[in-house]
Amino acid sequence: QLEKELERLDKELWISSEKLKEIVRRFQEELDEGLAKDDQNIPMNVTWVHSLPTGKEKGTFLTIDLGGTNLRVCKVTLHGETTKDNNKRYEIDQEQYKFPNSIKSTHADELWTHVAEKLEDFIENKGLAKEYNDKKKMPLGFCFSYPAMQDRIDHAVLQRWTKGFDIDGVEGHDVADQLRAKIEERKLPLDLICVINDTVGAMVASAYNDPATIIGGIFGTGCNAAYMSSISSIKKLSPDDERLKDKNGNTRPRMAINCEYGAFDNARKVLPLTKYDVQIDEESPRPGQQMFEKLSAGLYLGEIFRLILVELTDRGLIFVDQEKNGNGKLREGYSIDTGFLSQIENDETKDFADTRAMFKDVLGLDVADEELDVFQRVAKLIAVRGARLCACGVAAICLEEGITKGHVAADGSVANKHPHFKKRWAKALDQILGFDSVGEDQDPIVITSADDGSGVGCAIIAAMEMEDRLQWQ
Ligand code: BG6
Ligand code: GLC
Repeated sequence: QLEKELERLDKELWISSEKLKEIVRRFQEELDEGLAKDDQNIPMNVTWVHSLPTGKEKGTFLTIDLGGTNLRVCKVTLHGETTKDNNKRYEIDQEQYKFPNSIKSTHADELWTHVAEKLEDFIENKGLAKEYNDKKKMPLGFCFSYPAMQDRIDHAVLQRWTKGFDIDGVEGHDVADQLRAKIEERKLPLDLICVINDTVGAMVASAYNDPATIIGGIFGTGCNAAYMSSISSIKKLSPDDERLKDKNGNTRPRMAINCEYGAFDNARKVLPLTKYDVQIDEESPRPGQQMFEKLSAGLYLGEIFRLILVELTDRGLIFVDQEKNGNGKLREGYSIDTGFLSQIENDETKDFADTRAMFKDVLGLDVADEELDVFQRVAKLIAVRGARLCACGVAAICLEEGITKGHVAADGSVANKHPHFKKRWAKALDQILGFDSVGEDQDPIVITSADDGSGVGCAIIAAMEMEDRLQWQ
C-alpha cells in the first residue's frame, strides 16, 4: 500500500523535460507581457539601477535588509579595489535580528517602529552617532525583498505582501516614505538613498567581483530573479521618459529588472499543481498569488512534505498508533521547514540516527525503518521538483534576452543549504536549453554563489546612485 502511494507521488511530483520546456514557453510569454504593460501577472518591475558596478565604487554605508526571516543591519565599507591586507574589496560589520513571528501579521506602524528601533540600536552600539549627525547624514540603502513599484530609486510602493507576510497598511503605500517618517521621528542621522530588491542586490554584489554575472537569483524563502534589460525591450517605458536620461540628455541603454516571477502562472495554465499545492495556496494569506513560488520556494517545501505525511498518517500507513504520543506538531502548519528536508537528504550518520533524532525533536515521533525510506524518497521528490522549476525562470530569462553564457549569482537558504539543489537545478537547465551534449563542467551558463546582496549589493547601488547624483550638480 505504501509503495503504491509512493508511485502515485512520484507521478504527481515528477516534471519531465518536455513539461519543463512547455512551462518555459509560457514563462517567456509572461515575462514579455510584464515588460510591455503595467499590472501584468509577472510585474517585471523597473528598478532605476542602470548599470552593473565597475568595482571602483567606494564609501561607507548603512544597509537594512527586510527579507522574510531576519532583519539585518550592516555597516558596509567599499574600498573600490582589493585591499592588500586581506584581499577584499569591502568590509562589513553586521547585526542580525530575528523577526518576531507576530510582526508578520501586525500593522504598518509596529513594523516600521521595530525597524527604526533596530537601526537606532545599531547606530548606538557601533558608535556611529559620533561620526554622523543632522548635518552629515550616513547614506542608507534599504533592501526590501517584496514586489514594489518604483518610479524612482528612492521610492517603492508595495504591490502586495508575499512569503506569508500580511501586515496592514503597507500594500499600496510607499515603504520608503513610511521608513523615512520613523527615521525622522527618532532623529536618526540617516539619508535613505535607495530601495532595492534582494535579487538586484545579489546581481550587483556579485558583479562587483565577477564581470561574468548575468542574473541575480534568490532561491530561499521566496524565489525570484533580476537581470539587466535593454531599455528598448521595456516597452512599458517610453524612451523619451526624462527619468531615463543621463546628464547629457542621452537615454541610458539598460536597466535592472526585478522580475517578481514568483507570481508566474497565477492563472494556473501550465503548472502541474497537486492537491497539496492547492491546499497550501488556499490556506495562505494571499490565495491565488505567487503560485510558482508556492511550488518551488523554501517557505513551502517543508509544508508540502508535512501535508503528505499527514495524509499518509490519516490513511494509517505511517506513524501507526503513534501520533497520540507525538507533540502534535505534525498537525501544525509550517512546523517542518526546508532545513528538515535538507537534513533528510544529507544524512550520513550510521542508521540515519540524525534523521530519527530530528523527527523525535521536531514532531515527537519515532521513525520505523521502512518509514525512513519513504521519507527520504518523498523529501527528494519535493526538492527535485522545486529545483527543476527554479531552472525554468532562469531559462526563460536567458531565452528571452538571448543570453548564452555567464554566471547566475544565487543566494538564499535553498541554494546555500540544500545539499543537491545546485546540481539538480543545473541538470534541469541543461535539459531545457539543450546543453546536454557539453561536458558537465563546461556548461556555458552556471550557477555561482552570490556575494552578500542585501548588504554589499545594496551599498554598491547606493554608491552608484550618489555618484550619479553628483554628475547633475
Ligand atoms: C541572503 C541575502 O543571504 O539571502 C538576502 O543577503 C536574501 O538578500 C536572502 O533576501 C534570501 O534567503 P532566505 O532564505 O532568507 O529567503
Ligand atoms: C518573493 C518576493 C521577492 C523576493 C523573493 C526572494 O518572491 O516577492 O521580492 O525577491 O521572494 O526573497
